[in-house]
Amino acid sequence: MDWDTLKAECLACRRCELCTDRTHVVFGQGVQTAEVLFVGEGPGQSEDEQGLPFVGRSGQLLDKYLFAIDLDRSKNCYIANIVKCRPPQNRDPLPTESEACMPWLREQFKLLQPKIVVCLGRIASQRMIRTDFSVTKEHGTFVQKNGVWFMGTFHPAALLRQGGLDIPQDIASYDALLAAVLRAKGIVAASEGEWIHFDYTPGEINIRRGSAGVTGRLCVISHELHEDAVAGLFR
Ligand code: URA
Repeated sequence: MDWDTLKAECLACRRCELCTDRTHVVFGQGVQTAEVLFVGEGPGQSEDEQGLPFVGRSGQLLDKYLFAIDLDRSKNCYIANIVKCRPPQNRDPLPTESEACMPWLREQFKLLQPKIVVCLGRIASQRMIRTDFSVTKEHGTFVQKNGVWFMGTFHPAALLRQGGLDIPQDIASYDALLAAVLRAKGIVAASEGEWIHFDYTPGEINIRRGSAGVTGRLCVISHELHEDAVAGLFR
């Protein structure tokens, strides 16, 4: 099946009850040559209205993290969800709804053939990595399944909800992700010594790349960290 056929079929899906209240099916967004696939839980209100994944507040936060590590949905990654229609009141998708919807994600996965899959939040992590996956305990660690590296981390909406954005915890996940991406591309040491700036004031974070010496919360990408985080990856 090609992308156009898959998308057309998916947009007409009536495999579960979530189809009755949807405004749009949120198929996914990104480039078809992406090496990194992000998987969220399911569309919220903004996503349902616009037909695109992660376009609300949590999506804006996600985009900032992605920017910090040179990922961009319009250039080099793909974003999808476990369920493609919005659950009422943003409740967790029911197991039956996830089951009904997963074949679409599997087809996307087959077409994309990503090297790295990042699961955003518990629902995606437990569905894609392990049913007892703990985001709190295991975020940022990579496991390999059939030659593809999987990582689970906090859902950006959870970080927003916490109010006290848990930046240090998530720095580790995205740092590990950057390391894995660099490793996938065969460039590990290229960014050694490069700094990522996480400037944090309550309710807002700004992340940008830059050189050392600028104020803000800094996370240095060190060669050691790469080696540690991605030991054995892509060798
Ligand atoms: N939360 C998700 O899990 N997915 C989206 O697309 C938006 C918010």
